[in-house]
Order: sequence, then C-alpha cells, then structure tokens
Amino acid sequence: MSNRDSFSSKFGILVALAGSAVGLGNLWRFPYLVGNNGGAVFIILYLLFLIVICLPMMITEFTIGRRSQSNVFGAFKILSQGKKGKAWGKIGFISVLSALVILSFYSVVGGWTVDYITQSLCFNFKEGLDYEQMFRYSSENAFRPLIFTLVFLLLTALVVIMGVNKGIEKYTKVMMPLLFVMVILIAVRSLTLQGSNEGVKFLFRPDWSKFTIDTVLAALGQSFFSLSIGCGTIITYASYVKRNENIVRLSTETALMDTLFALLAGIAIMPAVFAFGLTPEEGPGLVFVIIPQIFSQLPMGGIFAILFFVVLFFAALSSSISLLEVMVAYMIEEIHWSRKTAVALSTALVTILSVLCSLSLGVLKNVSVLGSNIFDFMDKLSANILLPVGGLLFVLFAGWKMSDKEYFDEITNDGNLKFKPLFLNVLRFIVRFVAPLVIVLIMLVSLLK
Ligand code: TRP
Repeated sequence: MSNRDSFSSKFGILVALAGSAVGLGNLWRFPYLVGNNGGAVFIILYLLFLIVICLPMMITEFTIGRRSQSNVFGAFKILSQGKKGKAWGKIGFISVLSALVILSFYSVVGGWTVDYITQSLCFNFKEGLDYEQMFRYSSENAFRPLIFTLVFLLLTALVVIMGVNKGIEKYTKVMMPLLFVMVILIAVRSLTLQGSNEGVKFLFRPDWSKFTIDTVLAALGQSFFSLSIGCGTIITYASYVKRNENIVRLSTETALMDTLFALLAGIAIMPAVFAFGLTPEEGPGLVFVIIPQIFSQLPMGGIFAILFFVVLFFAALSSSISLLEVMVAYMIEEIHWSRKTAVALSTALVTILSVLCSLSLGVLKNVSVLGSNIFDFMDKLSANILLPVGGLLFVLFAGWKMSDKEYFDEITNDGNLKFKPLFLNVLRFIVRFVAPLVIVLIMLVSLLK
C-alpha cells in the first residue's frame, strides 16, 4: 500500500494523536460529567480506568492499525485472514457507526465554540450578565446553532479533504501548545477567585456516598471518549504510522497529555463554579456559562476570551477531523470512493443527525429517546455503549485472535525494541482478561440495575 498517506515525523504523529484525544471531551464533557457525578469519586474512577484499561487498549488499537496498515474495516479483514471466524471482519461497522453518532453531537458543541468566538469578537462578555440565559439563547434557538454547526462541519470536511499530511498535522502543531497555556492561565484565575476552595474540595475530596453504578459507567465511558478509544480513531491514525516508531511510548505520551488537560480543565472550571455561586450540575452548558464569566472579571478578559474560544475551536476541530477520518478512510478503501466523494457524503450524513441533535435542545425538546433528549441520547449511546462495545471487540480480537507472537512483534517492532517481560505479560493479561471482564461486568450491572 505505497500510495497511502503517512505522517511525516514523530512530532507530527504525536500532535495528531494528542489533537484527536484532547478536545471537547476534556474541556467541555469532563467538567460537566464531574459536576453531574459528584466530583472526586468520578475523577478517581476515571483515572483508574484510564491507567488499567484505556492505556492498554490504546496500545492495542495501535497494534491493530499499524500491523494491518488499513482502515477499521480492512484492518480486521486483513488480520483475520487465514483464521476461523469470518464475522470478525465486520467489527469495523460499529466503529464507523460510533464515529457518526459522536460527530452528530460533537459538531453541535463545535458550533457553539464558533458562536462564542463571534460573541467574544464583539466583546459581549461583560461583568454581571446572565450567562446561563446567554447560553440558552445560543443553544436553544432554532436557527442560530444550526448555522454555526454547519460552519464547524464544513471546516472539518475541508481539513479532511486536504488529507492527513497537509491538513491534520499542520494545524495541531501550533494549537496544542497554545491551548495548554490558555488552560493554565484560566486555572490560575479560577483558583484565585474568592470562594474557590469549595470547588477544589469538590474535585479532590471524594464523597463516597456518590458512588453508584451510573457514576462507574459514566467514568468508563468518559475515559474511552477522552482518549478517542473504541471507535477506531487510533486504528486509523496508527495505519499512517511508520514501522520504526515506538507505539507504547506514543500511546503513553498521548494518554498523559490528555489526562493533564482534563485535570487542568477541571481545576479551571470547578473552583469558579463555586466561587460564582452556581451549581456543578449545570449539564452540557457548564463550560459555556463559566468561562465567559471568568473572563468578564479578568483584566483584558475580552482579548483572552477571543483567544480561548479560538483555541477551543481548534482543539474541537482536530478531534472532529479524526472522527470524520474514520468514516472517510473506510469509504475510500472499502467502497473505493475518491476522498472528495467520501468526505462529501459522510459530512452530509453527519449534518442530518446533527441538525436533530441541535433542535432537540430547543424546538424538539419534548422528543425523548429512552428518557433523554436526542442530544443526550447520542452522547450516552456513544460513550456508554458504542465505545465500550467497540473497545471490547478490539481487545477480544487482539487478545484471542491475534497470537502472542503477532501482538508482541508489533509492539516491539519485530524485536528491535526491548521491554521488560513483566510489562509485556501484564499488558497481554489485561488485554485478554481484565479489560474484557471489566467492560462486560460494568455494562451488565448497569443494564440490569
Ligand atoms: N477524544 C476527543 C475529545 O476528547 C473526541 C474524539 C475524537 C473521540 N475521536 C474519538 C471520542 C474517537 C471517541 C472516539 O474531545
């Protein structure tokens, strides 16, 4: 497959991976889930899943993608060749489906970031305004969010059309460091607000009475969501990675960066929530209500607000790109469409669903799917069901269909990299037993409750 795109440098791969992982999941979804699920308990569970389950899964997705050098569909077809069980070749389907479902609400939130860029450019964030109402206006209106969502989707499509090298790599290199600086700045301001202590306690002092199976499932889902695991993003990106890269190190660095961003986002948001006398259970609007409020109280806040929302937008964009690429790579390699056709059709499909998601916060508020509005349903369906199921199938495949030798050859670059045998054995044990059991158990208990 010599005509396949590939990343041009190690730094390029790392920023693209980090670009996919770090996004609205860290800055928007994580803080509001922490708020809804009781704070520290959620964070502890999230970190636990991250280390024990998600990092090994990320390494595993890497293994599958780089070994097969193929899209999510092709990967399982290629790797199961000559082995029993044709059905394995079909796992890719669930990945393409989750990418579609995630993008449908992700692009709506991406649209809000575009909206907030325009508002910050008009210096609309003044002290003493009702930011909850402002957010409601931006999200519940019938047309306004649709336009911004469309802008966000078209920009995503544009970058994906340009291809992996010129599109994805170039933007993330500049934006990630900038985002980091911005979040630290906000965290410092948030911590120095009067009354921020309660927020810090909420983040770091566990109240175990908040421990429920829903919290466990939400933490599992969020750890998948945040690391972009279970949907084939990593498989797809890994297929563009050269054979001499160290995939264990790349995965660990990505996971570390992602975790750092999530924790920093928590520290940036929660202390301010308490300092402003708001409740943490604000839901999906949390960040959009808190951040402008913080900026309205900062010297030169107006300028910082512009910067922040621009950077947030780029973080969201580098993630949505990675999601669209899952669908596009599949369409190019399996259906043999051109990149342009694949991007056009997948974007059209996403647009239809995202219109529904957006309207479900306003006009279609009363339409409920299994007790949630369409937006929340898509969010929960992807993070709490599709990603864990996808991830489960990936580890089962790598653990039981791929031989130890195949798995280790890929991780050690055919023996060229040395790892401690203990590390390799623990990794293999987690992939074969721990990860599948934990995922099945949590999903079963939450289904049966
Ligand atoms: N991880 C990204 C975020 O935190 C979103 C994302 C990109 C994603 N690709 C994914 C989530 C694949 C799940 C699966 O914003």
